[in-house]
Amino acid sequence: MINKNVSKIIIGIAFVFLIFQAMQPVEAKAPDMPNNSCADCHRKMPAEDGISNTYGKWAISTHALFEVTCEKCHGGDPLMVSKEDAHKNISKEAILNENTPAMCGKCHEPELNEFKGSQHYKKLESGQSGPAPACITCHQKHTVRVLTSSELMDFCISCHNIDTGINPSVPGKAKKALESLKELQFEISIARGAVISAKENGKDVRSAEIDLEEARTILKSAPSVWHRFNLTYFDTEVQKGIENAKNAEKLLAGATATQTPPAKSPGFGIFTLMSVMIIIYFIKRH
Ligand code: HEC
Ligand code: HEC
Ligand code: HEC
Ligand code: HEC
Ligand code: HEC
Repeated sequence: MINKNVSKIIIGIAFVFLIFQAMQPVEAKAPDMPNNSCADCHRKMPAEDGISNTYGKWAISTHALFEVTCEKCHGGDPLMVSKEDAHKNISKEAILNENTPAMCGKCHEPELNEFKGSQHYKKLESGQSGPAPACITCHQKHTVRVLTSSELMDFCISCHNIDTGINPSVPGKAKKALESLKELQFEISIARGAVISAKENGKDVRSAEIDLEEARTILKSAPSVWHRFNLTYFDTEVQKGIENAKNAEKLLAGATATQTPPAKSPGFGIFTLMSVMIIIYFIKRH
């Protein structure tokens, strides 16, 4: 009797303990990288040190998530434990503002290729005085954030304004262009829903699917095409995608059901015929 209660209590405690454990908030933790001395040592640097701050910014970035570690941009040897050995081949050149397109472009080729066609790149390359944005001007070196369309406005205005005379109409147009990307996303989701329900109703969705696929391709390439910084071209592409998606919706609205009664297999007919003949044979014999 006592034994039974004791075991019940123990099970109860264990149960409560497990639930309690499960309810503990999962702490956002920087990735553990024991095989990377850069991340490992810089993580342990005292917080009041300005340089340790760079680790904190990196640790919450998409780059940290994908293990784009310090040496991928800075050079150096992440297998060396001492600072002197690890730092030996760190390159000061690679991270210079004007060299970031080439450095970042090793992993972001589509963006780099488009960027090379931009006036921003031409200005950077020309070595003329005056400001021109490179990759880290817009994406901040360690957080590599992607600014939203409204944050972007203020940012573009810092160079594109009446005082500098560098095309002041750019910020407004850029905001609109990025917002039309949301419209493209929206139209694609509507068209997708329409394709799914049309399929369920047995309609022919083939030509609509071709249009939908074209719209999707444009959406997928838009973030890299953006880096050409030719807003007219960007907008034309996005509008083409919106037209494709809307066309897919139209095609589906007009599509008639192609549903025909399910074809019987020839085997079934022969089987019925033979059964009937056998039945007739037996009836005649009796
Ligand atoms: C054992 C600790 C340790 C390791 C390992 C380490 N660092 Fe450092 N790093 C430091 C300290 C401390 C500083 C502060 C400046 C100084 O003392 O040189 C620093 C400074 C830097 C700087 C600032 C510029 C400079 O040269 O002063 C960069 C960039 C850097 N480290 C990158 C890296 C990279 C990339 C790796 C891996 C290949 C790495 N670190 C490995 C401790 C380390
Ligand atoms: C995606 C590339 C990239 C990664 C990854 C990266 N950095 Fe940097 N880092 C840069 C660039 C570019 C600069 C120079 C920015 C500038 O000119 O202001 C820089 C500057 C620094 C500086 C300032 C010192 C200096 O020489 O100007 C330190 C310190 C530093 N990085 C440390 C780190 C550490 C530690 C890591 C890993 C936890 C890391 N970085 C990861 C690109 C990167
Ligand atoms: C060693 C490869 C590598 C290098 C070098 C590199 N990146 Fe990345 N970057 C990645 C990967 C991997 C991702 C995550 C997957 C993706 O978006 O393609 C990423 C993502 C990004 C994103 C998207 C972030 C988000 O939250 O959506 C931006 C912006 C970015 N990188 C900018 C840069 C910039 C600027 C540089 C140079 C300072 C740089 N990258 C250098 C590999 C790299
Ligand atoms: C003048 C500002 C600016 C410059 C310079 C710039 N970018 Fe971007 N980048 C943006 C904006 C804005 C977006 C978001 C575009 C969108 O929403 O489609 C973006 C998006 C990205 C993304 C995310 C793409 C995705 O698939 O979501 C990557 C990666 C990236 N940029 C890399 C780079 C690299 C590499 C360079 C340098 C060669 C660079 N950027 C230069 C503003 C800039
Ligand atoms: C650091 C300064 C700087 C920043 C920030 C900047 N730009 Fe520029 N931009 C320039 C310069 C310089 C030119 C070249 C102007 C020229 O040569 O006439 C230019 C040209 C352009 C052009 C081509 C203009 C045309 O007449 O066809 C576009 C588009 C553009 N920028 C878009 C943007 C967008 C969008 C942003 C914000 C995400 C931005 N820029 C942020 C400096 C900047």
